[in-house]
Amino acid sequence: MRKKVTIVGSGNVGATAAHWIASKELADVVLIDIIEGVPQGKGLDLLEAMPIEKRDSYVKGTNDYADTANSDVVVITAGIPRKPGMSRDDLLKTNHKIMSDVVAKVVQYSPNTILIVVSNPLDAMAQAAYKLSGFSRNRVIGMAGVLDSSRFRTFIAEELKVSVENVTAFVLGGHGDTMVPLPRYSTVAGIPITELMDQATLERLVKRTRDGGIEIVNYLKTGSAYYAPSAAAVEMVEAILKDKKKIMPCAAYLEGEYGINGLYVGVPVKLGERGIEQIVQIKLTADEQAALNKSAESVKELIGVIGV
Ligand SMILES: NC(=O)c1ccc[n+]([C@@H]2O[C@H](COP(=O)([O-])OP(=O)(O)OC[C@H]3O[C@@H](n4cnc5c(N)ncnc54)[C@H](O)[C@@H]3O)[C@@H](O)[C@H]2O)c1
Repeated sequence: MRKKVTIVGSGNVGATAAHWIASKELADVVLIDIIEGVPQGKGLDLLEAMPIEKRDSYVKGTNDYADTANSDVVVITAGIPRKPGMSRDDLLKTNHKIMSDVVAKVVQYSPNTILIVVSNPLDAMAQAAYKLSGFSRNRVIGMAGVLDSSRFRTFIAEELKVSVENVTAFVLGGHGDTMVPLPRYSTVAGIPITELMDQATLERLVKRTRDGGIEIVNYLKTGSAYYAPSAAAVEMVEAILKDKKKIMPCAAYLEGEYGINGLYVGVPVKLGERGIEQIVQIKLTADEQAALNKSAESVKELIGVIGV
């Protein structure tokens, strides 16, 4: 039987995620939004590209959650995006209200699904979705680290003039100011980047990664990044649908791992058909652990505001 993926929110990130999924023929896609006509229009438009792309993914846009029934994975992108000068935290209350509405309906129609949360502020929204859904923690995963790592990889490849395929990178922690890039675990063809560039260059790339979201917002002015964010979410979808057991940095609910309890924080996880199949614990230096703790503290502050 074909796999089914629902994408909630058919704005920039949602519609582009649908595009990646259909173009890779990973699953049939349901695009849903509260705005009438937009998911239907984008869904039909994408469906009409399938003969050219030689893909048999069926794409449907809708405003009715009945159409999302029995989805294998649901990607939640509903929310308002960050505008110039607006911090991720400003989005907190509005997006929490949206999340409450969305998760209740998703769970009603797809009680066995796996949720991938994309809406910002990411870690707090993942925590809200986890609490609202009543799902076990392996089935509610936040997307941030894959995107942040991809940005870091892009900048490393550009700097060293090597193929992006040669570059692996790890970015842990929160999405935003508290992200924790790990140069020690970032490599080019297996060589740690700490051996390939000086400290000043490394720090410049780390800073650009940390500010990666705002760099795009400042260019676009009326919206935020969506090609790379949607590609990152779809890499997670693919790992789950194909049971790849792929290790990638995702926001996960920690219960004592890394000394953190009861919070969503970005850590390396193994993704497979059951969602998060393992939280991978790596040794951190005292500085890295302190940065991760700081990241956890900021998530704690946010969830305190919305009470989840
Ligand atoms: N985690 C990340 O790394 C990351 C990266 C990029 C964007 N984001 C976040 O993803 C979200 C979407 O970004 P975007 O650029 O696609 O925004 P967008 O405005 O283009 O799309 C959001 C869509 O959500 C819809 N929506 C609002 N309330 C809804 C509801 N109750 N039910 C269903 N749909 C609803 C809107 O109608 C809109 O079409 C934002 O919160 C943004 O900050 C996160």
